[in-house]
Amino acid sequence: MPKIKAAVMRANKAPLEIEDVTLDDPGPGEVLLATSASGICHSDLHVIEGDLPLPPPCVLGHEPAGIVEAIGEGVTDFVPGDHVIGCITNWCGVCKFCTGGRPYLCPSQFNGRPEGSASRLKDAKGDPIFQFANLSSFAEKMLCPERSLVKIRDDMPLDRASLIGCGVTTGLGAALNTVHIPAGASVVIIGCGGVGLSALQGARIVGAGQIIAVDAQAWKFDLAKDLGATDCVDATDGDPVAAVHELTGGGADFVFECIGLVKTVQQAVAMTGRGGTTVLVGVVPLTEMVPISAADLTLQEKKITGSYMGSNRFRFDMPKYIEFYLDGRLRLDEMISSRIKLDEVNHAFDLMRKGEAARQVIVFD
Ligand SMILES: NC(=O)c1ccc[n+]([C@@H]2O[C@H](COP(=O)([O-])OP(=O)(O)OC[C@H]3O[C@@H](n4cnc5c(N)ncnc54)[C@H](O)[C@@H]3O)[C@@H](O)[C@H]2O)c1
Ligand SMILES: [Zn+2]
Ligand SMILES: [Zn+2]
Repeated sequence: MPKIKAAVMRANKAPLEIEDVTLDDPGPGEVLLATSASGICHSDLHVIEGDLPLPPPCVLGHEPAGIVEAIGEGVTDFVPGDHVIGCITNWCGVCKFCTGGRPYLCPSQFNGRPEGSASRLKDAKGDPIFQFANLSSFAEKMLCPERSLVKIRDDMPLDRASLIGCGVTTGLGAALNTVHIPAGASVVIIGCGGVGLSALQGARIVGAGQIIAVDAQAWKFDLAKDLGATDCVDATDGDPVAAVHELTGGGADFVFECIGLVKTVQQAVAMTGRGGTTVLVGVVPLTEMVPISAADLTLQEKKITGSYMGSNRFRFDMPKYIEFYLDGRLRLDEMISSRIKLDEVNHAFDLMRKGEAARQVIVFD
């Protein structure tokens, strides 16, 4: 049974604790990985703050890349040495969403073990620890159902590959899969974190015209411009809705909300022009409601859609996104604001709370 170090969430709104954790040996259909890198996503912070309810104790982390160490009985898609990315999308393969081409909507909660089975992770006392999204990548090793993984090219750097596990797939997929952006369309991205900067790159890749980045941290605008923004709006300097209307001559064709605040969702709808589409990517805390004007939607025929995990079919999308990186279209190096050790994870969350980081990546030896 592999013994590893992992960052355990023992309570909400408290620092994660670095502990010794034991993983089971790989069972049928399971793959043991050495974690190479794990990006830190705001959804991990939502769980810590209690905005996404998950029971502690829990090992967070869901944006990983790693190398296969061992496989369980019946695993056919991986062999030791394979480089892989993990994804939270758990697909059963047989329901109407999976067979209908939208496995990211699979409601099965598939976890690869019979219902009622023990967790794959245990603490030093032998008590079970909840595994986040079948991954738990804030840990030196991971034990996952093979279906949570996709094999990638060996020449793809694993720290940059990890970003594709969640943030890049979410943002890029929102622009490439969830909606159809015609070449030349005007696009607004609200929130220039890992998710927003990926949506921004998606808009650039599909040939959008104006791409307006909105953030409350003006230091992010050099990066946003480097990655394809044509204009930037400082949300702390005047009314960002008025600024977008001014820049677009009455509102944008597509607005991606990539933060998850009531206020910025309302701004997103207000920034959307006549006949335009608001895409909600940020996760608003489950306890909160967002008042919007229904008449505004009717009379201007605006559309609002959610976008979940970039509407991914990750075994199809992720290798493609890696090609985009290797051919220069998708820029990942610039998105990594720091590479850190596992025991620096709490500091990374402090920076995220303050908006002082782009994507932070935990790298393992
Ligand atoms: N839909 C999905 O499937 C999915 C998947 C992954 C993440 N998410 C969600 O996407 C959101 C973004 O994640 P992230 O990891 O990029 O977060 P992040 O914290 O890295 O980025 C958020 C950005 O918003 C900016 N910001 C904060 N308040 C602002 C305001 N009032 N006005 C303008 N800018 C403001 C911050 O400066 C920061 O740049 C989170 O809610 C996360 O949970 C959704
Ligand atoms: Zn995420
Ligand atoms: Zn399914």
